[in-house]
Amino acid sequence: MKALVKDKAEPGLWLRDVPEPAVGPGEVLVRVLRTGICGTDLHIRSWDGWAQQAVRTPLVVGHEFVGDVVEVGRDVTEIAVGDRVSGEGHLVCGKCRNCLAGRRHLCRATVGLGVGRDGAFAEYLALPASNVWVHRVEVDVDVAAIFDPFGNAVHTALSFPLVGEDVLITGAGPIGLMAAAVAKHAGARHVVVTDVNEQRLALARKVGATVALNVAHTSIEDAQRELGLREGFDVGLEMSGNPEALRGMIANLTHGGKIAMLGLPSQEFAVDWARIVMSMITIKGIYGREMFETWYAMSVLLEGGLDLAPVITGRYSHLDFEAAFDDAARGHGGKVILDWAA
Ligand SMILES: NC(=O)c1ccc[n+]([C@@H]2O[C@H](COP(=O)([O-])OP(=O)(O)OC[C@H]3O[C@@H](n4cnc5c(N)ncnc54)[C@H](O)[C@@H]3O)[C@@H](O)[C@H]2O)c1
Ligand SMILES: [Zn+2]
Ligand SMILES: [Zn+2]
Repeated sequence: MKALVKDKAEPGLWLRDVPEPAVGPGEVLVRVLRTGICGTDLHIRSWDGWAQQAVRTPLVVGHEFVGDVVEVGRDVTEIAVGDRVSGEGHLVCGKCRNCLAGRRHLCRATVGLGVGRDGAFAEYLALPASNVWVHRVEVDVDVAAIFDPFGNAVHTALSFPLVGEDVLITGAGPIGLMAAAVAKHAGARHVVVTDVNEQRLALARKVGATVALNVAHTSIEDAQRELGLREGFDVGLEMSGNPEALRGMIANLTHGGKIAMLGLPSQEFAVDWARIVMSMITIKGIYGREMFETWYAMSVLLEGGLDLAPVITGRYSHLDFEAAFDDAARGHGGKVILDWAA
């Protein structure tokens, strides 16, 4: 089968012929239809410092996918050939305290699909049945391909009650955009999205942001004034990984405000801890998705009319993967999809 492989410890990815994966007991084989390109895949392609320590070559990359089940292994009961599925890309150990307690998203020994083991940018993918999410209700196939980052957005956005609240989202990348759509859909009053990229801010307006703010030349304080907020934002969703963004968020939150932090800073940095303490701000780190509460929420949010169509801005054949990766790496738009059937 064809797969996108990191088979040399240098920048690049290569479309190679590799053996189809074998299906073990408790696993299913998926014919991959579409995949989403993630920041992680860009790191592995560019072979930066993180990728060099996280990846052993050769590796089939990719973790965001949708496909159809074509074979089920021994002992798989709830999934059948023909099911349309996406999958949880965090493979957990099943043995640590959190796994045993059913809190699998808190596993201390998670292995990442397409990072620590062969991934989804391939014609076929074998995955433990316990990582598979069956789409019981019909979902747009491109949206189904990005359930993994959609789950990041949902997990973060629904970490704290949003109904009637004023929400600040820093970073209008694909995940920030999806979080804005979710926050609006879930009943937030104002959703203010910040970025430094005008194209992404335009997408934020498309998904329903009340205000999309370029922090290169406007301050979050100005947005507060414009909206008539007197005490600051109630909930912050940090989705940029940028130190200035978190500092600005902390400075513009109400007393007792809550921050859910998904953005991954590349290094340590200082924040105003006295302000956090005296304003009694809660900061919650978010990694991945809750298994499978977040997945349940994603499916029913879409069923209830949540529209993610504006977030998908690039569609390419897997044969044009170089152009697709370049598009994603420019960081101007939303999600970029690779089609494995074309
Ligand atoms: N915790 C997790 O499980 C998890 C999973 C996936 C991604 N992430 C992280 O979440 C973040 C969002 O992911 P993404 O794919 O949407 O990333 P992305 O890099 O595409 O988007 C980040 C956006 O932040 C913007 N930005 C930069 N400086 C800013 C500032 N000062 N204020 C506001 N915005 C600013 C950038 O212009 C960019 O549009 C990234 O940091 C990513 O590494 C975390
Ligand atoms: Zn991803
Ligand atoms: Zn575990």
